[in-house]
Amino acid sequence: MAGKIPQSFIDDLLDRIDIVDVISPRVPLKKAGKDYQARCPFHDEKTPSFTVSQQKQFYHCFGCGAHGSAIGFLMEYDHMSFVEAIEELATQAGVEVPREAAPAAPDNRPLYELLEQAAGFYRQQLRRHPEAGHAIEYLQQRGLSGEIAADYGVGYAPPGWHTVLEHFGHDTAAVGRLRSAGLITEQEGKRYDRFRNRIMFPIRDRRGRVIGFGGRVLDDSKPKYLNSPETPVFHKGRELYGFYEAKKALRQLQRLIVVEGYMDVIALAQFGIRYAVATLGTATTPDHLERLYRTAPEVVFCFDGDRAGREAAWKALDTTLPLMRDGREARFLLLPEGEDPDTLVRKEGAAAFEQRVAHATPLSEYLFGHLAAEIDMESLDGRARLAERARPLLDRLPGGVFREMMRKKLSELIGLSVEQLPVSSVKSSDARHRRHRRHSGSPRMTPVRRAVVLLLRDPRLATLSDLPQNWRQLDAPGITLLSDLLDLLQKHPNLNSAQLIEHWRETEYFPHLEKLCGLAMELPVPEEGAAPEFRGALMRLGQQQREHETRTLLQRIEQGTATEEEKRRLKHLLSRNPSQSD
Ligand code: UTP
Ligand code: MN
Repeated sequence: MAGKIPQSFIDDLLDRIDIVDVISPRVPLKKAGKDYQARCPFHDEKTPSFTVSQQKQFYHCFGCGAHGSAIGFLMEYDHMSFVEAIEELATQAGVEVPREAAPAAPDNRPLYELLEQAAGFYRQQLRRHPEAGHAIEYLQQRGLSGEIAADYGVGYAPPGWHTVLEHFGHDTAAVGRLRSAGLITEQEGKRYDRFRNRIMFPIRDRRGRVIGFGGRVLDDSKPKYLNSPETPVFHKGRELYGFYEAKKALRQLQRLIVVEGYMDVIALAQFGIRYAVATLGTATTPDHLERLYRTAPEVVFCFDGDRAGREAAWKALDTTLPLMRDGREARFLLLPEGEDPDTLVRKEGAAAFEQRVAHATPLSEYLFGHLAAEIDMESLDGRARLAERARPLLDRLPGGVFREMMRKKLSELIGLSVEQLPVSSVKSSDARHRRHRRHSGSPRMTPVRRAVVLLLRDPRLATLSDLPQNWRQLDAPGITLLSDLLDLLQKHPNLNSAQLIEHWRETEYFPHLEKLCGLAMELPVPEEGAAPEFRGALMRLGQQQREHETRTLLQRIEQGTATEEEKRRLKHLLSRNPSQSD
């Protein structure tokens, strides 16, 4: 596996290239003042609001809010992955992409081998164990054919406490392997088999290696399913049950169905629908979705029709939004109450089930339908509310034709262009507010965000002397980011906005930071005003920190738990002049 690309190389690369040279062959740019402009490639428009700042090495569209560095532009515009974008820019700059030495991967081969052997052992127990009769009966009663059970490697864990231990655990090393494979557990110093008297479903990774198991009880006892714990080779948030089997059965997958249970995957396969996979008792993750979309362009989420199922479906939609690049399709299929794919396909057969799948609700319809459900769409106010709820969701879609289509659909639904909508929930009719609301992705201006925006606009603010420091202890969203940003800039005062934000690409902060960078281009502050304003924002944060500390200390005194030192501190806080900075 190739190692990580060093951050210092990315800084250098962004120094060597010019975002204007990257964008202009793709989107012709016109010089406008110190920036460049064009009609936005990410949405339909007649007047140019797509702006490229050479100084910041950052682009931002005032119309649709698209934004990013040269790397981000290639990712959005040319649908490149992050690494591809870096490689493209490196080629343009005539440099090689270096890689940090990849850490030596731990050798998991013994673990895979043991898990494969365990799967074989459980299969064999289903045929041979004296108590296996009721397991076979159970499978038959659920309608499983012998053939499909063999295809999916279904097995049986016998009732004893030490069956697997006795079979595999001959020495300390073997016991250690059983433990790290998740096949045994230990409590109060006693070891025993994790899976006892359960139907065993081996879970394979996409290369077909057994990485874990799901075990079902034969009666109504709890828990109904027991899954392998997270191990060095098994990660629930990444793996999908039935994925390997689906890829093996069908060379070209056009569509994948995501269902909830092991038995659903197997029942559908038995009826010839061999392209269903199940998450392993978790919600669908972005990792899952990347994997699915790499295999097939269409994903159909299939959930039970109960409340839990509807909630899971909405959650899946939420996870899917940022991944809906052009060419990908998502649909939602809610089954009748009380049914799951297993019961339904057995009841109505494969053709009827596939009909349902083919007519599953497209993401756009599901999204707007769900939002409109409790809204009076006849009233202007109701339609405004729909727009308000929909816009933050649409903002999470990646730029492209699909997002534009969704925006159009929204304005059709509300019967007005998005810009024409009344601003229902904003009390102040202040023009600045209205301007902000139009880009509904624009965050509220808290002092933290204000400080970050000012820093992004003018990184040299970080080198001002005597900046207040005590705000760093404040426990509020964004403080860590602001603090890290400031530290980085104090060390490297010449980084431009693009270089800066690329330091955070791998983190949860990245989308916020990108957005704030866009905002930094939108909100001009007079140059001479930036320093006092930045200091002011930090001082307001410091003030918040002092208020918070004062409240906490007062509470501790009331509870009688304050130390002498804390009492002195409180006295100091209460006696000081509010403009002092500690
Ligand atoms: P369901 O309760 O919907 O079960 O759980 P099912 O798949 O219909 O099972 P059958 O038909 O009664 O055999 C869906 C999935 O949630 C996880 C499992 O992955 C299961 O397949 N689950 C459920 C657990 O991990 N533990 C449980 O106790 C229950
Ligand atoms: Mn079921």
